[in-house]
Amino acid sequence: MARRIAWLPGDGIGPEVLSAARLVLDRLGFDAEYIHGDIGWECWRREGDPLPPRTIDLLKTVDAAMFGAITSKPAGQAERELDAPLRGKGLAYRSPIVRLRQMFDLYICLRPCTAYPGNPMNYKEGIDLVIFRENTEDLYAGVEFHPAPTALSAVLSDLSLSFSPYKHLRPDQYAVSCKINTRAGSERIARAAFDFARARGRKKVTIVHKANVVRASDGLFLETAREVAAAYPEILVEDANVDAAAMWLLKNPLNYDVLLAPNLYGDILSDICAQMVGGLGFGCSGNIGDRLAVFEPTHGSAPKYAGQNKVNPIAAILAAKMMLDHLGEPEMAKRLESAVARVIREGKVRTYDMGGSHTTTEMARAIAGKV
Ligand code: NAI
Ligand code: MG
Repeated sequence: MARRIAWLPGDGIGPEVLSAARLVLDRLGFDAEYIHGDIGWECWRREGDPLPPRTIDLLKTVDAAMFGAITSKPAGQAERELDAPLRGKGLAYRSPIVRLRQMFDLYICLRPCTAYPGNPMNYKEGIDLVIFRENTEDLYAGVEFHPAPTALSAVLSDLSLSFSPYKHLRPDQYAVSCKINTRAGSERIARAAFDFARARGRKKVTIVHKANVVRASDGLFLETAREVAAAYPEILVEDANVDAAAMWLLKNPLNYDVLLAPNLYGDILSDICAQMVGGLGFGCSGNIGDRLAVFEPTHGSAPKYAGQNKVNPIAAILAAKMMLDHLGEPEMAKRLESAVARVIREGKVRTYDMGGSHTTTEMARAIAGKV
């Protein structure tokens, strides 16, 4: 039966890289109905909402979604670019992808980082790690105050800390962003990471945290992840402070297998790891919940390249591969990945970021030709 896939190209290079992914999916013979959904800057400009209700309704009815990229801009500019009738109405721009993650409880951010042999951009050959980043909580909980409300500033100035600057500050003189990690949230991302390790025969999970300093929230994350780990005795478990992990990842990337991290540390380490395996043209990710999963290249809309058929579509094509895996099509996923790996290894077709001059479409055709 045909899968229902929401197709959300978005802005800038989003449509180009998704078309490239589509070319490959069609060549694979993936049986799907693709339904277009509007998202991004144009929706904001014309409707005052980058994630319109019709797109949310669409996402309630699909098996998965592919998302290209969106443009976002600072608040002042966002307001100025609104169509005239929408200006001055107090509309506030909020990232549609962050909203999607929270609205559909897409609590897993899955980011595989594989150095395909022969990629001239590999930091080291042989890197093959997978990041499980918690995707809804932590500093992204969206609980922020500036100025601090009276009740909160009262609590803060009552704290008998040796260093308590809040006693002397007015509430508008400081800002507070809450890092909130729950036991349930930590448990489900840990379980996802260990289940994945078990299913894929991965040997080790590294829990990333800063529990020696951020004792309450990271302490809970670490403690919970360790409890979950106990049910997977065949998998080696270690933990690392996030700063040390960043250093060790660069020094010895081959020592890492599965990384498990709260939201912010996972975000930062994902970019380091993506760069080690080729950069933005290769970074793909899945935002996965129990009912919906949204797959995307991790890059943005790269406005300066929009419409030039120039950027690397491999990130979007690998996002399609992740979608196939998620939808229970491992054989197609494998064919797709092998095709990507062969094109990279042969080195005959390369986009500008890989030192070549082939177009987005030529790269997509080369990969499609090998599936
Ligand atoms: P970006 O990822 O769009 O581009 C940065 C640079 O990376 C580009 O100028 C280009 O040199 C390179 N690049 C990106 N994708 C590439 C590809 N597929 N192949 C080859 N090279 C590639 O990040 P930037 O410039 O910071 O942001 C541009 C817009 O995208 C902003 O409005 C930003 O808010 C938005 N953005 C959206 C994201 C999303 O939709 N998930 C993520 C990051 C940024
Ligand atoms: Mg990021």
